[in-house]
Parts: sequence; structure tokens; C-alpha cells
Amino acid sequence: MEWHAQVRSTNELAAAAAERGVPEIHAVLADVQTAGRGRRGRCWTAPPGSSLLMSLVVRPRADLAARGLLPLVTGLALVDALTALCPTLDVGLKWPNDLLVRERKAAGVLVEALPGGAVVVGCGVNVDWRGVDRGEALAAATSLAEAGCAVQRWDLLAALVPAFAGRYREWGRDPRGFLPEYRRRCRTLGLRVRVTDAGSGPLEGTALDVDQDGALLLADDAGNATRLVAGDVEGVRPV
Ligand code: BTN
Repeated sequence: MEWHAQVRSTNELAAAAAERGVPEIHAVLADVQTAGRGRRGRCWTAPPGSSLLMSLVVRPRADLAARGLLPLVTGLALVDALTALCPTLDVGLKWPNDLLVRERKAAGVLVEALPGGAVVVGCGVNVDWRGVDRGEALAAATSLAEAGCAVQRWDLLAALVPAFAGRYREWGRDPRGFLPEYRRRCRTLGLRVRVTDAGSGPLEGTALDVDQDGALLLADDAGNATRLVAGDVEGVRPV
């Protein structure tokens, strides 16, 4: 494990560590990121010291289709860790892997595959953002402390690493075994949603299921299903 005061991005540093040949599971953490990376090319910002910013280097042997499930596996590990720490906390997942606390985003996951087979699993968890002026871009986000789950970053680290390791090993043995539990935890299913950035114009419909490869099945109003492998989901009120 390495913990730094300030880095550009823990995912970036973890990629360099993977290239050096570190064994799995190697963790890279930081108090501050100056160029944190989010999903779909966005940047990820967090007030200094307020969040758990962690990237794990793993070297999975799973086939390509199963590798696509790793972000979902990681989301479920976040749910496991938080449920263990704060049993009464209202936690769930927004497809594919945003952690929701009281229906607001409290953590994100960015999984990046490297040439050579290693994978970097990046997690940013908003631990305590109380009193933080977060501007418009982060207005919808929340933190664990705001939801009454007052934990230190160390406690979260100590819960999350074993939770991830457990889910990761289980996934190595049985790549789709976690899916029933994922579906139970996925708040997107059954909702009317709008999906943007899915490779086409915005799509609206009912989120039916998550398939064996982690894709979201969306039914339009005529009952036709579309299979989405990526995208940004937001809930909409039924008309
Ligand atoms: C998302 O957009 O929801 C995913 C955000 C992932 C952010 C984390 S913070 C630690 C790690 N390092 C990065 O640069 N990104 C991930």
C-alpha cells in the first residue's frame, strides 16, 4: 500500500505501479488529487482530506466478457463495506457502479484496463463533505457523514479492502455469481430512466434488468428492449 499527500490521480500512479510489476492487490491512496479521473473522460474533484481516494492494482485471469463485470463487482464491494460499517445506512447502486446513499451519489468507481493485462480499480468515496462549498457541479453529491455514517477514512479503508478482495476472489471463481445480489442492490431496476451518453441520443424507458454481461436492458414505451453497455442514468418521473 502507498499513501500520498498529493498526486495527480491515484489511478495514474497505480498504472505506473502495475508497470513496475507490483503484485495484486496493491493499493495507492492520496489525500488530494489534482487531476482525478472520473468515468467517461470527466474529472473527479474532492475537497482535500474529505474522501477516500484509492486505486487497486489487480491482475485478473478472467476472460474479456467477465472483465466487463469488474466495475459492478466493485460497486457491490462498496455496498458490502458500508453495510458492515453503518448497518442502518440506506445504500444502493445506480447502474453501473455509482454508490447511492439516500438516493444521492456518495462514491464512484473507475476501472481502467492496462496493456499487459493488469487492471486499475479506482474508488472515490465522499467520506465527510459537511460544510464544504461544492458548487453547482457537485451539488447533487452527498457524503457518508451527511447521511449519519461518521467514519474515518482509515475505517473505510480497513472495511473496503477486504470487502473488495472477497468479491474479487468470488468473481475469479464464479464471474457471474454476484449478479443476483447486485440486482437486489441496484436501485435503477424497475425505474423509469433517461440514459444519456450511451452512444446514441438520449433514451427513455423502464430499466428492466442487468444481463449476464452487466449491460442494462431498457424497455421503451412500445415494449422494445435496448441493451446498453454504458451510459449515464438518471431517474425520471413517469408522465
Ligand atoms: C465516476 O466518475 O463516478 C468515477 C470516479 C472515480 C474516482 C476515483 S478517485 C480515486 C481514483 N483515482 C482517479 O483518478 N479516479 C478514481
